[in-house]
Amino acid sequence: MTSDYASAPGGDVTAGRAESLPFDTSRAHQARIYDYLLGGKDNYAADRAAAEEALTIYPDWAFTARANRAFLGRAVRFLTAEAGIRQFLDIGTGIPTAGNTHEVAQAIAPETRVVYVDYDPIVLAHARALLDSHESGATEYIDADLRDTGTILGKARQLLDFTQPVSITLISILHAIPDSDDPHAIVAKLLGAVPSGSYLAISHVGAELYQTETRQDLEDIADRMAQQHFTWRSREQVARFFEGTDLVDPGLVRVEEWRPAATAADGQRSSFWCAVGRKG
Ligand SMILES: C[S@@+](CC[C@H](N)C(=O)[O-])C[C@H]1O[C@@H](n2cnc3c(N)ncnc32)[C@H](O)[C@@H]1O
Repeated sequence: MTSDYASAPGGDVTAGRAESLPFDTSRAHQARIYDYLLGGKDNYAADRAAAEEALTIYPDWAFTARANRAFLGRAVRFLTAEAGIRQFLDIGTGIPTAGNTHEVAQAIAPETRVVYVDYDPIVLAHARALLDSHESGATEYIDADLRDTGTILGKARQLLDFTQPVSITLISILHAIPDSDDPHAIVAKLLGAVPSGSYLAISHVGAELYQTETRQDLEDIADRMAQQHFTWRSREQVARFFEGTDLVDPGLVRVEEWRPAATAADGQRSSFWCAVGRKG
C-alpha cells in the first residue's frame, strides 16, 4: 500500500500542514547542505558555499555526514532484523537519497510502515520518492515541525498502530531544536505515545567533539543560514533523551562506532553522538 496523500512534487502532500520553513535559495538550509555533503544534487549556491566554508574549518564534516547516514542504515537494519520493529516514525527525514528508512526496512520486512516528517519545503517537494512503498507495506509523509508533536502524533496514528511497538528515529535533527523549545520534553512526549517495546534512535552533534574555536567559526557560518543555530549538546545531555529506555549495545558512542560494519578508513572521526534505546 502506498499513500493516498501522494501528489506531484511540490503539491499538498498532507492535509492540515504545520509551519514550514520558507523556501529560500539565497540562504543555506540544513537539508540541502547535508545533501551536498552526501554528494546529492538538490542544493543551491548558498548551500554549497556554506558547506565548502565549513569544510575548510572542519574538514571531517563530510565524513561525519556520511558516517551519520551509515548509522541511520545500520540502526534501521538492527531495528527491523533484530528487534522485530515493523513501524517507524522518522522525524527529520532529509532529502531522499540512497538508503531511505523505508527502503532499508522493507528490504528486510516488506510489510513495514514508515511515517516521515520534515518541515523543509525541498523535502516536501521530493516526498514522492519517500512514498514509493513496497506494496505490502506503507509510507506516509507529514509536513510538520518536530515541535508540533500534536500534529505529528495525530497524523502518524492514521498509518501507525500505536498499540504496537514503533521506532522513533530522530537522526541529526535534535540539535536544530534550541533549549528554549525544550527538546527533552518533545522527545518524552513522543516516547510517551508509544508502547513499551518501542525504540528511540538519535544522533546529535557532540559538544565535546569539537574544539571551542572550531565551534565559534562554525557558528559564524550558521548566522547566514535560514535555520536557528545548532545547539551543541554534551554526551550527558544527549544521554538524557533516552530516559525511560535501556540502551542497546554498544550504548552511546560516536556514529561510526555504533555496530560498525567495518572500521572507519584512515582514522577519521565524526563529531556526532548516537544511541538506540528500548522503552521498558
Ligand atoms: C541533516 S538532515 C538529516 C536527514 C536524515 N535524518 C539523516 O540523518 O540522514 C536534518 C533534517 O531535519 C530537518 N529539520 C530540522 N529541524 C526541523 C524541525 N524543527 N522540524 C522538522 N524537521 C526539521 C531538516 O529540514 C533536515 O531535512
